[in-house]
Amino acid sequence: MSHQATESLYDEIFLDYENNYHNNAGLRAFVREAASKLPPHAQVLDVGCGTGRPIAETLCAAELDVTGIDLSTEMVELCRKRFPTGTFIKADMTKYQPEPQQKFDAIFAVLSLFHVSHRECYSMLFKFSEWLRKDGFLFITTIYSQDLVERGARPDSSGIIDLADVQFMSRNVPLTALSGEKWSNYLTAAGFVDMQATRYDFQPADPTLKVAHHHFITVKKGDSHPLMGPYPYPDKVRGPYSINKAAYKSFLGKLNDAESKALADVLKKNTNVLKIDPTTSNESFLFGPKEKLSYPDNHFDCVVVAWALDGLDNLEEPLREIARVTNSASPNAKIVIIQAAPDNDLLKQVNVVCPGVAEKANNKAPMHHGLILHRAAEALKTNGFANIELTRIADSACRFAERDLAARSQSAANLFAKMYYADEEDVQSMQAVLAPGMDSILKETPNDIGTQAVMLVATPSRAA
Ligand SMILES: C[S@@+](CC[C@H](N)C(=O)[O-])C[C@H]1O[C@@H](n2cnc3c(N)ncnc32)[C@H](O)[C@@H]1O
Repeated sequence: MSHQATESLYDEIFLDYENNYHNNAGLRAFVREAASKLPPHAQVLDVGCGTGRPIAETLCAAELDVTGIDLSTEMVELCRKRFPTGTFIKADMTKYQPEPQQKFDAIFAVLSLFHVSHRECYSMLFKFSEWLRKDGFLFITTIYSQDLVERGARPDSSGIIDLADVQFMSRNVPLTALSGEKWSNYLTAAGFVDMQATRYDFQPADPTLKVAHHHFITVKKGDSHPLMGPYPYPDKVRGPYSINKAAYKSFLGKLNDAESKALADVLKKNTNVLKIDPTTSNESFLFGPKEKLSYPDNHFDCVVVAWALDGLDNLEEPLREIARVTNSASPNAKIVIIQAAPDNDLLKQVNVVCPGVAEKANNKAPMHHGLILHRAAEALKTNGFANIELTRIADSACRFAERDLAARSQSAANLFAKMYYADEEDVQSMQAVLAPGMDSILKETPNDIGTQAVMLVATPSRAA
């Protein structure tokens, strides 16, 4: 079901849904207990707020500063009338962006994440972590995948149900669900800690509707930055490799403008910028630790390193060089690094299948761009660029225009296998194993493979 169809569904059944589900003593107790953990007037986001009963109702009664978002216009209108102290916005959670600098003390996602796909659900957990203040809480209510078997869906071998038809409110609705173990893994991946989960069986008001097995999950935002995830870091990451330049050029030709717009915005005030990417970088500099950049000290007011730190064994030397040629005395001095976001669709697929068929020892472990960003930040801090900010470039995607799905999937697989595994003799095997994963992404986003990215901006640590 598309988000549009979910919106129509709830615009139609919102009162029926409320009549059946609002009188949920277990959920009310969970929300009350959650509210008691928060400071007075805490800023709280309710994702998929529905008609506001019982969640917004309980949170507003506790005098918290409530923002609710929901796809359904009818539900948002009802919340606005009922809870005038809250702010209610009609928004799709997968597109929503809080105001700049806005951070929440807590996020509630009660029985709403099961309406987005598995891919989107994974991504939302990272976004929730980004939107939370340090030590903020995430409160989830959901149904585990094993509890949907009795409603006609079957988890795959890793405990995932991805938008399979399920009996809900006397109709078939596609829902996504995870096992408890998967929830724990994904929440850890996004930097959350201290997971607690309890189960509560709830009978909707209509006795002909099935008992719902609700799981209440509480987690806290940990110290690790979500955009440097997923966590924990693997014991071994892919060894030195370089992106194939010809494939990368072809990739750039298919890339939308989200990344270039985000970069242009950050560079507005810079006048002398060095850009290093796989098409421009001098590999002897990036791969030879003794090499130097052929520019004098403090030559640029900004250096941009885009997708060029992949697979380097040694990040310290190149980043020391980059800091050396960046004039930290300039008021606009900055070093910008772009790598993949932890929910990057392309890399998630590549990492799942390619190491398994790799022949070369170096290629047998996954790539980890979050770890690259973490190591880069550490190296920049020791070279005088200690103010680090990370932002997400959410809408970056690579576009495939072939007419039919199979052709698009194969074209994407061919390009990405060549881009990341050109050093493998049997690139064709890589292309073959990648195609089904590309196919599953393109079924959701018909022409686009997401290349969600992170932009790290490091500015000088000036003395006070
Ligand atoms: C089962 S209801 C739960 C409502 C409310 N949280 C409650 O427990 O009473 C699911 C809600 O999620 C909303 N929803 C589904 N997909 C969404 C999306 N992509 N973005 C925002 N809201 C969404 C629906 O419109 C609906 O209000």
